[in-house]
Amino acid sequence: MTSRKKTTSTETIDEEGEEVLMIDAEDEKTEPTVEDLPGVGPATAEKLREAGFNELLAIAVMTPKALADAAELGEAVSAKIISAAKKQANIGGFISGNSLLERRRQVQKLTSGSTAIDDLLGGGFETQSICEVYGEFGSGKTQVGHQLAVNCILPLEQGGLDGEVFYIDTEDTFRPERISQMARGIGLDPEVVLERIHVARAYNSAHQMLLVDEIQRMAKNMDVKLIIVDSLTSHFRAEFLGRGMLAERQQKLGRHMKELKKLADINNALVLVSNQVMSKPDAMWGDPTKPIGGHIVGHASTFRIYLKKSKAGSRIARLVDSPNLPEGEAKFFVTADGLRD
Ligand code: GTP
Ligand code: MG
Repeated sequence: MTSRKKTTSTETIDEEGEEVLMIDAEDEKTEPTVEDLPGVGPATAEKLREAGFNELLAIAVMTPKALADAAELGEAVSAKIISAAKKQANIGGFISGNSLLERRRQVQKLTSGSTAIDDLLGGGFETQSICEVYGEFGSGKTQVGHQLAVNCILPLEQGGLDGEVFYIDTEDTFRPERISQMARGIGLDPEVVLERIHVARAYNSAHQMLLVDEIQRMAKNMDVKLIIVDSLTSHFRAEFLGRGMLAERQQKLGRHMKELKKLADINNALVLVSNQVMSKPDAMWGDPTKPIGGHIVGHASTFRIYLKKSKAGSRIARLVDSPNLPEGEAKFFVTADGLRD
């Protein structure tokens, strides 16, 4: 991640093509921070922050043992910190059905470039949601990620979200050249598109999780509309091997998904995660045709799409899980210009 705006204003282009500055009216509220907790000195605060605990709510929901392990603190100290955080954190609360409906009204939809896929999703990929795309290697998951990254730059009336894209690349498969190709495919200037896609390579699962915090920090000065994690599970799968580490892996993945959902909700953004299905050699336990991460990832995702190769170079996207849409399939192609019917 490179560019970082220092002001709290957002630059946009108005109808005459002039750059205008919109100053955020809402100044940052002074919420208590970890330093405000009684008994937390600078060294402990540092440890908490290093372990990714920047918000009191994140601390309040931990168990003493988990916090002790994560932040390398004693369990007794952790217990005290947690109970202090519970008192001071903004836990949130219940909101009315009408407020929820109002939030739903703000949902925006991002086009995939294929009307078949958009129809399958009731008009496109929804903001305020996590969409999991899973399938075998070569099924097109990364291509979908690249295409959505490009389309996100489009104005709303053309099916875009007109916002910034954050791409967490765990397998070193992000290709700016492919972005350029797809941008030209829909008549956008590749340079303009690439400027708005912010890419970070995640070196391991812990780094991957820290990058989500970093996005949340950057979101304060930027209009984050799409977050892509490609692949969600590759590091977790490689680092937590075998049955003995399954529980820990699932717990971490669950926390990761929660943080991602928070990003989607707070920013009215779409989160797209890719996931490989387990290949045969791995299948010492579990179903060899199921995506990695199983229930944890599945339940945390709002939409699940299964991708597979089909006849004559076509691909099938099957909607597997959705809160309000029927299951179904869409046929599409990956062309030089990008995803098409
Ligand atoms: P893994 O990450 O290995 O699990 O696979 P994946 O599901 O991410 O597959 P990916 O999206 O990388 O799909 C690769 C396929 O997309 C290739 O086999 C090609 O068929 C197609 N593809 C990739 N790049 C291009 C391109 O520039 N032009 C065209 N026409 N097709 C492409
Ligand atoms: Mg891939």
